[in-house]
Amino acid sequence: MKVTVVGAGAVGASCAEYIAMKDFAAEVVLVDIKEGFAEGKAMDLLQTASLNGFDTKITGTTGDYSKTAGSKVAVITSGIPRKPGMTREELIGINAGIVKEVTQNLVKHSPDVIIIVVSNPMDTMAYLVHKTSGLPKERIIGMGGALDSARFKYRLAEALESPISDVDGMVIAAHSDTGMLPLFSKATRNGVPVSEFLNDEQKANVIEETKVGGATLTKLLGTSAWYAPGAAVSVMVQSILCDQKKMIPCSLMLDGEYGESDICLGVPAIIGKDGVEKIVDITLTEDEKAKFTEAAKAVRDVNGDLKF
Ligand code: NAI
Repeated sequence: MKVTVVGAGAVGASCAEYIAMKDFAAEVVLVDIKEGFAEGKAMDLLQTASLNGFDTKITGTTGDYSKTAGSKVAVITSGIPRKPGMTREELIGINAGIVKEVTQNLVKHSPDVIIIVVSNPMDTMAYLVHKTSGLPKERIIGMGGALDSARFKYRLAEALESPISDVDGMVIAAHSDTGMLPLFSKATRNGVPVSEFLNDEQKANVIEETKVGGATLTKLLGTSAWYAPGAAVSVMVQSILCDQKKMIPCSLMLDGEYGESDICLGVPAIIGKDGVEKIVDITLTEDEKAKFTEAAKAVRDVNGDLKF
């Protein structure tokens, strides 16, 4: 099956690399607006095939969407990333125009496509794709929770001094520094609630470090991260292409779930061959419910800046 990745920059190329390395897709098509850039990235990546042992075909194009025709999944990473000190929300002006145009081109050539939205502010960009693509809601998935949960697990493992594979945890609500909701009440180490092992100060630190995880990296790197975002996207693409039905927190259009409607927010969902197969209803504490509602309010404010 064919996967298109629009934006051959840091995140797009990383995601294409992970997809190719895992060797579950027949072809990855990279698209970029910069002349020759996607072609160059595709060639460089394909030259790793014999070294890394994969057969995925990788091609690149400067804006020729006919090459993306028949894609099962398309990932939108095109747009500008944040610089140190910026919020994701500040990117809306430039990225909304790019995401809207890219979506129209993708749908024209692949009417059955499942779109994964990565460009920031991601919850609002996912909402924009819902409003402008004409695709059913099951086929539009925002990537935020998969990455934020990986960062949560990283911070939990650090605090617990445990191997990462021993810990489990999930982040829902908004993909923003303030609206992220790491579900501490559900986090576990080898199945045991982590609250058994961490005191209140450690708990508060883990939550705070998780929420500013992206900003911390942006400060260190001078731009936003790419390895973990690329890996997070590849896990979602694999769950679709291989029909793995993994439960992954994703930004989805809500219709009453978690008490919200007409908004894209991070919630756990089963992701399979048809896209979103089911939104999973998990019980939140009263505090988590209040934080979810607060995050929704903030995202709604940002959505209000969109012009369709
Ligand atoms: P980047 O600047 O390295 O790459 C973006 C690419 O998009 C560039 O190569 C650019 O030429 C291309 N582009 C711009 N307009 C285009 C158009 N109309 N058509 C095709 N390509 C176009 O940026 P990076 O670091 O890859 O980040 C991409 C986006 O992903 C940013 O908005 C960033 O904030 C977001 N992001 C989201 C994450 C998430 O968890 N949802 C995590 C990390 C980044």
